[in-house]
This record gives sequence, C-alpha cells and structure tokens, in this order.
Amino acid sequence: MIKNRTELLRKIKEEVIALKESPLYAERIKNKVFPVIGEGSHNSQIMFVGEAPGKNEAATGRPFCGASGRILDELLASAQIKRTDVYVTNIVKDRPPFNRDPLPEEIVVYGPFLDRQIEIIQPKVIATLGRFSMDYVMRKFGLENLLQSISKIHGKVFEAGTSYGKIKIVPLYHPAVAVYNASSKDELKKDFQILKEFK
Ligand code: URA
Repeated sequence: MIKNRTELLRKIKEEVIALKESPLYAERIKNKVFPVIGEGSHNSQIMFVGEAPGKNEAATGRPFCGASGRILDELLASAQIKRTDVYVTNIVKDRPPFNRDPLPEEIVVYGPFLDRQIEIIQPKVIATLGRFSMDYVMRKFGLENLLQSISKIHGKVFEAGTSYGKIKIVPLYHPAVAVYNASSKDELKKDFQILKEFK
C-alpha cells in the first residue's frame, strides 16, 4: 500500500520521539520538553530548513515560534507567502543546550530525518536558514563545490537533481541575525522576494 505524506511524516515523528540514541535525548527528558519535527503544508512547494529548536520551540514542539519565528513570519508576509502554505523544519530536531551550535554528531543523527522529509514532501525549493542548513543541504545535493560563506551566496539560486526531479536551493541568512540588526533584515527581505515565484 502506498502511504500518504501525512502518515509518512507521522512515522518520522514517532521515530524521533523514541530516538534514545540521540545525544540530545537525555536533555529532552531532563527538561521535560519536546522534539520539533516540522510544521506546515505537506504539499508545499517551498521548504524552509533552520538549524535546531530554541527554548520556545522545545517548550511547544513547534518550529520558529519564538523571536526568530516572529522575524520569519514578517519575512514571509513581506513576500506575500502564507506560513500555512510552506513547510518549516530544522536539521536537528531536539534543542541543543543553551542554544549552542549543533555538533557534527547531532547533524549525523538527525540529518536522515530531514532527508526523508524532503523525499516525502518533494518541495520544488529548499530555502536554508543559516549556515548549518546551507552546508548540510548543499552537500546533500552534491553542491559542495559551490559552497562559500553565507555572506557571499545568500539569495542565490542553485539547481540540483533529486529522485523526484529538479529542485532549487536558496541559501538565506538565519532570521535570528535580523533580531538586532535592521540592515540584515533588509537583506533578508530582498532575498525572500525570490521565493515569491514558487508559492
Ligand atoms: N532557530 C532555528 O534554527 N530553528 C527554530 O525552530 C527556531 C530558531
């Protein structure tokens, strides 16, 4: 039987909830918080991939629902994109303590879940938020030779092949950079205009 997208995504959620081998599992249990799997349209053309949940996200189980999330909402609105029409997730599904950067071994554990989410949702565009997701997604699609610092390649559109056809990858700054920096927010707003044509 061919399973539908929602069922396949639910399976990912169940597996992450039970992921005792994750280096962040003990933290999750100790802090009585939740993993953050992803949220949005299961038929979306656009997938946003952030880094890892922060405090608000782990408390609620929802991606980008704190300060960075408010910026993301503003950026989406500036491009007339509805948040409910896109899918938002992270590479790492549990909160790293003190919001530190994800460790390579954490990306190794959680990356395959993101790979499956991409295969299930089959977005036409993946917009990466921040350097960790840029690095992971570009390498995953064989674009490592085109990787440069995010300040050089943010807002550029890269093409890659997937099992389900061509995809575009757009590296973007992480919305957190705009929390205290108005000029980064302007850059982000400009970059978000690129996504309009895919909605
Ligand atoms: N930052 C991220 O990278 N992801 C979230 O879900 C929230 C903040």
